[in-house]
Amino acid sequence: MSKSITPSTYLRSIGYKLMMQLADFIDPQEGWKKLAVDIKNPSGENRYNQMHIRRFEGLMKMGKSPTCELLYDWGTSNCTVGDLVELLIKNQFLAPASLLLPDAVRVANDFTVPFSSQETMPIHEKQVPVQEKKVISRTPLLAQSNVGQLSAPSCLPQENDNLQLSDTGFHSFWFHELKNVTNNFDERPISAGGNKLGEGGFGVVYKGYIHGRIVAVKKLSAMVDVSIQDLKEQFDQEIKIMAKCQHENLVELLGFSGDGDQPCLVYEYMLNGSLLDRLACLDDTAPIPWSTRCNIAQGTANGISFLHENNHIHRDVKSANILLNESFMPKISDFGLARASVKFTQTIMTDRIVGTAAYMAPEALRGEITPKSDIFSFGVVLLEIITGLSPIDENREPQLLLSIKDEIEDEEKTIEDYVDEKMSDWDAISIEKMYSVASQCLSEKKNRRPDIKMVQQHLQEIRA
Ligand SMILES: Nc1ncnc2c1ncn2[C@@H]1O[C@H](COP(=O)(O)OP(=O)(O)OP(=O)(O)O)[C@@H](O)[C@H]1O
Ligand SMILES: [Mg+2]
Repeated sequence: MSKSITPSTYLRSIGYKLMMQLADFIDPQEGWKKLAVDIKNPSGENRYNQMHIRRFEGLMKMGKSPTCELLYDWGTSNCTVGDLVELLIKNQFLAPASLLLPDAVRVANDFTVPFSSQETMPIHEKQVPVQEKKVISRTPLLAQSNVGQLSAPSCLPQENDNLQLSDTGFHSFWFHELKNVTNNFDERPISAGGNKLGEGGFGVVYKGYIHGRIVAVKKLSAMVDVSIQDLKEQFDQEIKIMAKCQHENLVELLGFSGDGDQPCLVYEYMLNGSLLDRLACLDDTAPIPWSTRCNIAQGTANGISFLHENNHIHRDVKSANILLNESFMPKISDFGLARASVKFTQTIMTDRIVGTAAYMAPEALRGEITPKSDIFSFGVVLLEIITGLSPIDENREPQLLLSIKDEIEDEEKTIEDYVDEKMSDWDAISIEKMYSVASQCLSEKKNRRPDIKMVQQHLQEIRA
């Protein structure tokens, strides 16, 4: 801590070393995003929107510290160390705040800190201060007797918490069995004779053969900010949620293995991969016709509807999580994994904002959890279905697909200008109808978005 720093010191004049120390606290678990969404311009408007957030993410991929970049940028507005400390305290970043102004933190500790942006959230969804995160006890994997006690996701019925993995009806595999059926987890892509189907935020997915049936094995791996223990809890949660949520538009879990170092989940194999890949015609697959796309939209809405009816919020609705079977019937995946991270929100991943920013509703970016955020994300998926464009492309203008809504509202473009040229069987009326649903789902204000039942109804009308 530098002695010369006072609340009125300009943020831009703090030294590099101190900036890096701050970054060490705020970079992990995407803490900088939490700050970014709270930073206001002198006019009172939010300084950073989703596009800015994506830019900072891009800088992070280039090896830069997003916290430093954010603070350098904010510093150009003549804000002070006092402004930053206020923001840090509000977001419970007490350690970095005390690096700058220890006295301010002592004072703050004596008073209740207002959580203006989180006031509407239930108590247990609120942030846990940094110091408390470390002392929250963890329940062990598999052997535990009452696993759900701590996790208690707000949206699931409490009786779920008493469910034992052995009661779920899923097959319990040995890790070595899964290793055998995936050719030692062969990392080479299928096209090169290997078993790797794809890779996501939780690990690698392999193709496997069990008693003549093709399956998909997801081997979970620890990430930078997620320990193996936390990963196993998340795995545990996925299994219990999958046991509760069975529907023709949800990917079926067949079994799991928990005895190895890395927990594995065994799913039904989806021959046509993800909607994201098929819209992009990856591996030279044929474009999906419009009539099939309408069915995919409808089926996906049915899956989300089932989840919402069962008080379950997906939180990571995106075309990569919509898988297609041999007849292009859509099935939503990863609903347990994404949901389980609510618990992470309470513990180690307090500041981590799950989901991909290109799909995230404004309130989801602020950490609020509501089914209406799934509706927003589904709106982006509908735009992908109509346009065949990826949700974000840094070499495109606009970069975010959801921004085409502004262009269309400003009458610079029409939705017809954006229809995927790779389809031939579309008609203007049904495109307009689907776009109208997408546009409503993408309302900035969550209360203006339709609920999933309304979405289902509107999509049904397209096909009538
Ligand atoms: N059941 C399955 N059948 C066939 N392919 C699958 C299956 N599950 C996943 N895949 C393939 O593996 C890829 C990676 O899936 P994974 O869920 O790990 O990552 P993701 O969906 O891209 O990101 P996230 O980790 O956020 O869910 C998918 O895009 C899909 O191509
Ligand atoms: Mg996925």
